[in-house]
Amino acid sequence: MLKVATETMPFLLEPDAGTLTDYTRLPRLPADVFTAPLRRPAHVGEDWLEPRRTAYSPEEHRIWDDLFARQMQILPGRAASAFMAGLGKLDLGRGGVPDFARLSEDLGALTGWSVVPVPMLIPDHVFFWHLANRRFPAGNFIRKRETFDYIEEPDVFHDVFGHVPMLTDRVYADYMQEYGRAGWKAMRHNRLKALGALYWYTVEFGLVREAEGLRAYGAGILSGPAEAVFALEAMSPNRLFLNVDRVMRTDYVIDDLQPTYFVIESFADLFHQTVERDFDQLYGRLGAGFTYANSAVIDIDNVLHRGTLEYHLRGGRRSGAKPA
Ligand SMILES: [Fe+2]
Repeated sequence: MLKVATETMPFLLEPDAGTLTDYTRLPRLPADVFTAPLRRPAHVGEDWLEPRRTAYSPEEHRIWDDLFARQMQILPGRAASAFMAGLGKLDLGRGGVPDFARLSEDLGALTGWSVVPVPMLIPDHVFFWHLANRRFPAGNFIRKRETFDYIEEPDVFHDVFGHVPMLTDRVYADYMQEYGRAGWKAMRHNRLKALGALYWYTVEFGLVREAEGLRAYGAGILSGPAEAVFALEAMSPNRLFLNVDRVMRTDYVIDDLQPTYFVIESFADLFHQTVERDFDQLYGRLGAGFTYANSAVIDIDNVLHRGTLEYHLRGGRRSGAKPA
């Protein structure tokens, strides 16, 4: 998942990161840009990549298999066709935590992306840099049995099972690379929060309208046990068609089911809406904070389903409310 914390990293300086076109080396941040003050583990370099291949225990491989089996009970008929096709193309159900080298080879042959291991959440600017180079950073650890249903920090199951199958789709793969490039522009404008909202409502919690019905393509939905049914079938949440300007002004929660989901018509729709938008102009007009609550439906919205918001009105996860 994307992190949008902010603090100075004064050792990285270079003019105008927002107009960069060359991402071969990690670009330096402009002096006034803030990024999260994450402490880099001693064994990783500035790219934050794990130098060694991770060895998973038999129990850890079993946890992957059990998570995989659980999701396969839920996702057919609910996950986007591109996601289901990607699972097959990459053979993610062959058993155990996938080997990143083999996965990268298969994915590289399809769309030129690779999957690279990182030890923890990494700084925004490094994350964007990897995406801009068609590298998807994935956690190299897996949750324990005790936190089987819900984890705070994205693990290899969330990152690989949730995100990587979509990267087999050519248009979506291009969107993710453009998103990485857009990250550098957002930092220059100090509008990472707004770009983070776009990531949240598309890459993590996006829905797509397919011929057979609504489907989920967001990794936050696809890698967990409860949200696919809630997002697609419950009366509670709003389902609105994506409008990039509006989404970038919308608050989001990271520790509960979403009150609102945004729907795209296709991945080409998503790609064009974002790549063709002049973000310089958009950022110039955005306030520092969010304008819209995450449950709001506003005049300009193209509404597919207006939610009852019952789940959130009852108090959401903390109250023990049942998704309805
Ligand atoms: Fe994620």
